[in-house]
Amino acid sequence: MVFLAKAPKASEIDWSNLGFNYMDLPYRFLAHWKDGKWDDGELTEDATLHISEGSTGLHYGQADFEGLKAYRTKNNDIQLFRPDQNAARMHKSCERLLMPAFPEDKFVEAVKSVVKANADYVPPYGTGGTLYLRPLMIGVGGNIGVHPAQEYIFTIFAMPVGAYYKGGVTPTNFTTSYYDRAAPHGTGQSKVGGNYGGSLLPGDEAHKAGYSDVIYLDPATHTKIEEAGSANFFGVTKDNEFVTPKSDSILPSITKKSLLYLAEHNLGMKAIEGDVFIDKLDRFSEAGAMGTAAVIAPIGGIEYKDELHVFYSETEVGPVTQKLYDTLTGIQFGDVEAPEGWIQKVEY
Ligand SMILES: Cc1ncc(COP(=O)(O)O)c(C=O)c1O
Repeated sequence: MVFLAKAPKASEIDWSNLGFNYMDLPYRFLAHWKDGKWDDGELTEDATLHISEGSTGLHYGQADFEGLKAYRTKNNDIQLFRPDQNAARMHKSCERLLMPAFPEDKFVEAVKSVVKANADYVPPYGTGGTLYLRPLMIGVGGNIGVHPAQEYIFTIFAMPVGAYYKGGVTPTNFTTSYYDRAAPHGTGQSKVGGNYGGSLLPGDEAHKAGYSDVIYLDPATHTKIEEAGSANFFGVTKDNEFVTPKSDSILPSITKKSLLYLAEHNLGMKAIEGDVFIDKLDRFSEAGAMGTAAVIAPIGGIEYKDELHVFYSETEVGPVTQKLYDTLTGIQFGDVEAPEGWIQKVEY
């Protein structure tokens, strides 16, 4: 018995109250790698994968993925935000797991084909909703030794989503995790399934304690902030600096890369990637989590060693965080001019 949350008709969706939930939309892209090459792939209506019980994606975590969004503009156009960056990052994740990368140009074309086929499900402009796309690759076929698979599946499915953190752009509190998300020379830099399996328990403990997510510290010394749940961390200093951690074990966030640029070029801030010591949070007047799903989620406070350090406010978003949010989402929804090459239209 397969459980599938069949999507309602697009006309029946309450676009302003979408959560972040799976939905089985009409179409997804599916390609196979066999005998040393990828086939062309095609759109399919089948939301299930039929794979061998001996698939490495099931046993040995030979699985990587991406996350990006399609946005509807005021003019009713549909556009993607830096999809080439997701293609490039997935290429790197594949290299780390000895998987055959799907060609980057075809990745972007396939994303566009999925958006076009499900265009009715791209939420209307002004509702805050977007169409979330999930490219996923897994090793498949009969295999029981710890070796790379002989065959692979690459799929891209989609669903309309709203806010990832319940508060949206209202601040929430995070707690510092006792657990590590990644090892110093492990897979933290790659978007691979195994990193997320290990994050479920810390996330669950944080939720039960009343926090929206966890702050992970660097696995080598446990003194520096690395990630904020499944998003990168940023702080704004009293001297108008935008600061985000630099480390080989955090995921190179595309939102982070974009905000580093926008903080400097659009907001006139000094943008810095460097150490963020957990016991020196006083230097920040504002803080937040940033990522495709999180967008920019203001962090009200961080609990560390039983004390809550509050940044700007536990209830109100800070002015710089708000400006960063308005600039980023303005670009994504087509209201603010984008730097060259950041936006790709989807013809539908
Ligand atoms: C662990 C982790 N860090 C950061 C991010 C943010 O990355 P991006 O901005 O590319 O979505 C994500 C989400 O993709 C993530 O899973």
